[in-house]
Amino acid sequence: MCRIELGSQTKLIYRLYTCLINIMNSTVDWPEPIVRVQSLSESEVAVIPDRYIKPPLERPTINSTTTTTTTTDAPRDDVNIPIIDLQGLYGDDDNLRNTIIGQISEACREWGFFQILNHGIRPQLMDRAREVWREFFHLPLEMKQPYANSPKTYEGYGSRLGVEKGAILDWSDYYFLHYLPLSLKDYNKWPALPADCREVIDEYGKEVVNLCGRLMKLLSLNLGLEEDVLQNAFGGQNIGACLRVNFYPKCPQPDLTLGLSSHSDPGGMTLLLPDDQVPGLQVRRENDWITVKPARHAFIVNIGDQIQVLSNAIYKSVEHRVIVNSGQERVSLAFFYNPKSDIPIEPAKELVAQDRPALYPPMTFDEYRLFIRLRGPRGKSQVESLRSQNTHKFCSCK
Ligand code: OGA
Ligand code: NI
Repeated sequence: MCRIELGSQTKLIYRLYTCLINIMNSTVDWPEPIVRVQSLSESEVAVIPDRYIKPPLERPTINSTTTTTTTTDAPRDDVNIPIIDLQGLYGDDDNLRNTIIGQISEACREWGFFQILNHGIRPQLMDRAREVWREFFHLPLEMKQPYANSPKTYEGYGSRLGVEKGAILDWSDYYFLHYLPLSLKDYNKWPALPADCREVIDEYGKEVVNLCGRLMKLLSLNLGLEEDVLQNAFGGQNIGACLRVNFYPKCPQPDLTLGLSSHSDPGGMTLLLPDDQVPGLQVRRENDWITVKPARHAFIVNIGDQIQVLSNAIYKSVEHRVIVNSGQERVSLAFFYNPKSDIPIEPAKELVAQDRPALYPPMTFDEYRLFIRLRGPRGKSQVESLRSQNTHKFCSCK
């Protein structure tokens, strides 16, 4: 049993290593010519190309409000992730403050996902940020192509995650850029159009980094730690922050594919600004997929793998995916708040005890991120594989 697992792990490491060698060689590009999903969608094909067709078990099942079973992966429409109103967090009603902090604690432990209202970021800024990106994606292809990304840094305009030749792809295009560290922030890699794009993205980033910093304190306190422990484990002020804007074009056969395959976010914490008109995000809840119903001007917060590791699995980094539809495109902004990329992340020592050993070995975010960059989104296999490495250390098999 162990032998088989170790064997497959060795093979995987070998494959990742080979990919890594390729990726470090700067001449390497995507394994196949890039097709913009938006162009496919605009060509009004009635049938999607084979390489977007997911295996039957991964396809979204038809939405139904009548489903009561909890043992299928039919989406549940009668449930939503917790919605938490942050108004009162900084007021002088201690009871209210404690209630809000308690709601956040429960959401991090039970759901790994929640929405926040009255978070302090101006609704106009949120709307404008989404709209500048929508306008960018609606520019003619030749104006976007100069920003085409490569697997080396992923920065820019992209249409796939992962570099495996022949991989099945997701029905989306995206734009990826860095805010922090400042050494990686490069306005030339940000779109020049629409005219106010850089200014809006910049302000949006500053505000969201600030909000994430406030949330980190609450997450830390809720683990019974001093408020700065999580932030310090992330590298203090030297954190990383980046944005992935997802563009999900209309899809003529939405039940055969996904806009974004199931994955957990590899970083620390994600603040998602969803489309205000079109749902699509689904969160895994045991065997169900719950379609998130976004509240107006809320952010969707989710725990990433690095906080799961730091919290020694007290907080959950939960799998999620995106479904598409034939009637409307969808735009979302996923803001990733990450640890400094070269410091080892491991369970906080205060959360490790004799009866609760460290579930994960230390690993830097740079090392960790390679998996998803090479293999594309794959459920929770990555953080789970770390855990299995550590369980092997404890298990008795030779
Ligand atoms: C992501 C993500 C969800 C969405 O970009 O990691 O999960 O709704 N996006 O686009
Ligand atoms: Ni995600």
